[in-house]
Amino acid sequence: TRVAVVFGGRSPEHGISAVSAGSVISALDPDEYEVVPVGITRAGQWVLAGGDPGQLAISERRLPEITAGTGAAVVLPADPTGNGLLVLDPAAGPSALSSVDVVFPVLHGAYGEDGTIQGLLEMAGIPYVGSNVFASAAAMDKEFTKKLCAAEGIPSGPYAVLRAGMTLPDADKDRLGLPVFVKPARAGSSFGISRVTDWDDLDAAVAKAREVDPKVLVEGAIVGREIECGVLEGETGGAPEASVLAEVRVITDHDFYDFEAKYLDDSCEYDIPANLPDRVTAQIRDYACRTFTALDCAGLARVDFFVTPELDVYLNEINTMPGFTPTSMFPRMWAAAGLEYPKLVNRLIRTALH
Ligand code: DAL
Ligand code: MG
Repeated sequence: TRVAVVFGGRSPEHGISAVSAGSVISALDPDEYEVVPVGITRAGQWVLAGGDPGQLAISERRLPEITAGTGAAVVLPADPTGNGLLVLDPAAGPSALSSVDVVFPVLHGAYGEDGTIQGLLEMAGIPYVGSNVFASAAAMDKEFTKKLCAAEGIPSGPYAVLRAGMTLPDADKDRLGLPVFVKPARAGSSFGISRVTDWDDLDAAVAKAREVDPKVLVEGAIVGREIECGVLEGETGGAPEASVLAEVRVITDHDFYDFEAKYLDDSCEYDIPANLPDRVTAQIRDYACRTFTALDCAGLARVDFFVTPELDVYLNEINTMPGFTPTSMFPRMWAAAGLEYPKLVNRLIRTALH
């Protein structure tokens, strides 16, 4: 099976995607899969990648960077011999992708996790791992995730949406209370997120979020624990399956589970499985599967929740292409459920080919 693993890309999560892809490529059994590694630069140029996928890793707090020129650590320019794997000139159009059996778009955030590459692959008729155009776009957008899930009875905390140019009305300040989290509506890995404890700091936080997305969410902070759940599409068209749960605890001086805490610092502890009463575990797994279904997801997702001291459960967000780095929660939760990393990747590709 020829599988194109696509990574990097135009989103701020470029480097995380490269690390995720390095792990995925390493986990693909060479007897079964012929891997075509395709990097996308921050400028959107597609390049055939070469070298050791093990080098797609965080080293000395630095993330890999996909570049088209020379001097890139691990990624080579488009194969000059044109060996027919992929035509790497984006202007060549989607038909250039047609010589692989399946694409694994290991892309996080905009231009990859949001329905854009999914649309390209749909047009080209190439099977791919993960959610379709609509589900990817809906799940990428924190406003529409909350709205669609609310319609299914899955609660989120209080929030306000600031479309481009809007400022937060005073009535919303009273309703949300402090602190609030200010987030780009469509982003990941905590890029552009601030915790605001003084309304005087709100404008700066909104401006920072708008560097990532003109649409911004202001969310009332939910005091509680952060619990995550992996979901996989049912194997034979059956109901989606939930993994064991994980709890993330930030143990050092980070304000919240921010980018550095997620990837760079040794500042989190993880409990897998999360230590919760059975009733709450069952509720979260049910909500996770219902979130997956409510958004029409396929393949995989990681659904993140808050659990208050009173054990009320609130949806935080969903990721249709969750992190696949060696420390990422999604593969670790499935490993704890008995599905080791290579088997997980194998199952995702098999699901995509059905
Ligand atoms: N957006 C990052 C990759 C995650 O959710 O894991
Ligand atoms: Mg996310």
